[in-house]
Amino acid sequence: METVLTDSPEEAAEFIRSGRLVAFPTETVYGLGADIFDEAAVGKIFEAKRRPADNPLIAHVARQAELHLLATEITEHAQALIERFFPGPLTVVVKKTTEVPLIATAGLDTIGVRMPRNETARKFLSACGMPVAAPSANLSGRPSPTTWRAVFEDLDGRIDCILKGGATEIGLESTVVDCSMKQPAVLRLGAITLEQLRAVVPRTVLGDAGNPVRSPGTRHAHYQPRALVVIDGDAVVPPEIAAAYIGFHPPNGGFEIVRVVDSVEQYGAQLFEFFRECDRRRIKTVVCEPVEPLGLGAALMDRLTRAAG
Ligand code: TXA
Ligand code: MG
Repeated sequence: METVLTDSPEEAAEFIRSGRLVAFPTETVYGLGADIFDEAAVGKIFEAKRRPADNPLIAHVARQAELHLLATEITEHAQALIERFFPGPLTVVVKKTTEVPLIATAGLDTIGVRMPRNETARKFLSACGMPVAAPSANLSGRPSPTTWRAVFEDLDGRIDCILKGGATEIGLESTVVDCSMKQPAVLRLGAITLEQLRAVVPRTVLGDAGNPVRSPGTRHAHYQPRALVVIDGDAVVPPEIAAAYIGFHPPNGGFEIVRVVDSVEQYGAQLFEFFRECDRRRIKTVVCEPVEPLGLGAALMDRLTRAAG
């Protein structure tokens, strides 16, 4: 199929409304969207990404009023987090309505809901006029796309449209917090930190990030470049191996690509595109300096650890 590239949120929304697939920017990473109430369209997301059917999708909305189409009940904790962090990089898991097809939630009776704050995403979702199911717009297992070119690299010819926006601001996927039970549990770390969540709901636990039942996404390979990822800023790579480095301190020679960052935010924003650049240049080993696992650093370390397999 031909993949149409556009700058127009309205043109992109037309594709969604005719049951087709559109990649769109958000503040975290690019998403691959379809009308969540159209089972066939949602099925095409799994095909295009080669995503395992047991990994549920997130529903994206333009405004809070759309949430009742998705959730049977918004618990008090969920409501408090929504009021504080929507729109923004937070996904809240709640009990789903029967209107949401089970294919979208991989058979679960819950659904993750999120309201992006990115301006283009908001215009696009408003123009769609319905909640949009969207995972990250990469081939399954690859690093999430933070530019439209990264989406194009993975999905050209496999999806109907790419809504072009700039590079994503955060570069790491949203924080996922399960509010379907009494105690909110963080299933995936992101830019909204555990500390920030606890400031609103003190009993939030860092939960089950590795529990395959509650957090289906964590049982699959993720974020991996083809190169070997080593989390040790001082790692020495034999000269015959093409290597790259990312971290805060300039390394001692021998690297084909060197990326020096000056904050955890910048590190997070650049990591996935850096991995892709390493693959394009046939790098075999990527040396990554570890960061303190606090705040955004915890999310970054999670991605690095999983990229290292
Ligand atoms: O920032 C983001 O969240 C991006 C943008 C596009 O919004 N989306 C994203 O989607 O990263 P995806 O599909 O790559 O990751 C969704 C994560 C997976 O780990 C999935 O298992 C989890 O959220 N998830 C979704 N629905 C869930 C549910 N009902 N229960 C538990 N985990 C769920
Ligand atoms: Mg993903």
